[in-house]
Amino acid sequence: MALRILTIETSCDETAAAVVTDQLEVLASVVASQDRLHERFQGVVPEIAARAHVERILPVIDETLRQAKMDLNDVDGIAVANTPGLAGSLLVGVTAAKALCVATGKPLLAVNHLHAHVYACQIALRQNIFPCIGFIISGGHTHLYHCTSPTEFRYLGGTIDDAAGEAFDKIAAMLGLPYPGGPSISAAAVAGNEKKYAFPRPFLGDRKRLAFSFSGLKTAVRYAIAGTGKVDFRSLQLTEQQIADVAASFQAAVVDCLIGKAMLAVEQNNLARLCVGGGVAANATFRERLKATCQQNGTELHIAPFQLCTDNAIMGGLAIEHLKAGRQEPMDLDVLPGLVRGS
Ligand code: KG4
Ligand code: ZN
Repeated sequence: MALRILTIETSCDETAAAVVTDQLEVLASVVASQDRLHERFQGVVPEIAARAHVERILPVIDETLRQAKMDLNDVDGIAVANTPGLAGSLLVGVTAAKALCVATGKPLLAVNHLHAHVYACQIALRQNIFPCIGFIISGGHTHLYHCTSPTEFRYLGGTIDDAAGEAFDKIAAMLGLPYPGGPSISAAAVAGNEKKYAFPRPFLGDRKRLAFSFSGLKTAVRYAIAGTGKVDFRSLQLTEQQIADVAASFQAAVVDCLIGKAMLAVEQNNLARLCVGGGVAANATFRERLKATCQQNGTELHIAPFQLCTDNAIMGGLAIEHLKAGRQEPMDLDVLPGLVRGS
């Protein structure tokens, strides 16, 4: 009988659980999105996120087990993301996992959320993807790693200010588009001319440095739509075409930077296998252009499938690796909200 683990993910604003086997089969997956709760603030409010996790975590776990036609006694371990993320959010998942482990005597397994975003590619492929260049592009991270195994990551470079997803969310707010910004910008961009505005591509020409910066891009968009004076973005009267053109031009600038540095990481490390995860990797223009670039230069590319890009618990199937290696956590497992780059 295959080993089966229950995985729990509450690092940011999705309450999620899944059951995954050691053959990387997904037996069930539930994601309760909190987008509606954070929408009017145009970003995640940590206290609201934590409280919503408390309300949802047990129903989400129940529903996951129901879909998998299992009960808690049938699982071989309980895994939870304990780093990085919002402290209050992580705590809800970790506390739930511990309580279930105490009640059932099952082993407690810990998942690094960033490792899991890359491992999503392995789950989709159901084949080994390591060693690879791991690229995580989400609302909180824009980071490149040299990954020798599912849990051995060496930090190569990343953003020096905003994360790519954060930039999408902030630009969407400026344009009056709904939260989360990634999908709204991407939809608006379809009708836009990406050459209309020449937004900056910071660091793109620097062939040595694996770095991103999206903060200046945000300012450039602001100047393009509202000039340099004081502005209330809610009172801006932009036409649909203007919104579409800004969205397309902004998206093209971000995509150029992401692809340029991913390719530089491949080149610098002489490792022609790239694995990409995180919410921004769901972006259709990014996916198409990255695929074309990798095809041209002979890089093996794995991008997490659409539903495994944004936060989910399936990617926590990474903990199967811990279970197989006998790496179980003590009951005083803590949350580590901050990013430990190398780990
Ligand atoms: O990985 P994720 O669900 O959560 C974090 O770990 O941060 O990523 C969420 C981010 C949000 O900033 C959202 O705007 C962005 O991913 N995102 C996208 C798209 N879908 C989600 N960005 C660009 N294009 C998309 N289609
Ligand atoms: Zn994430």
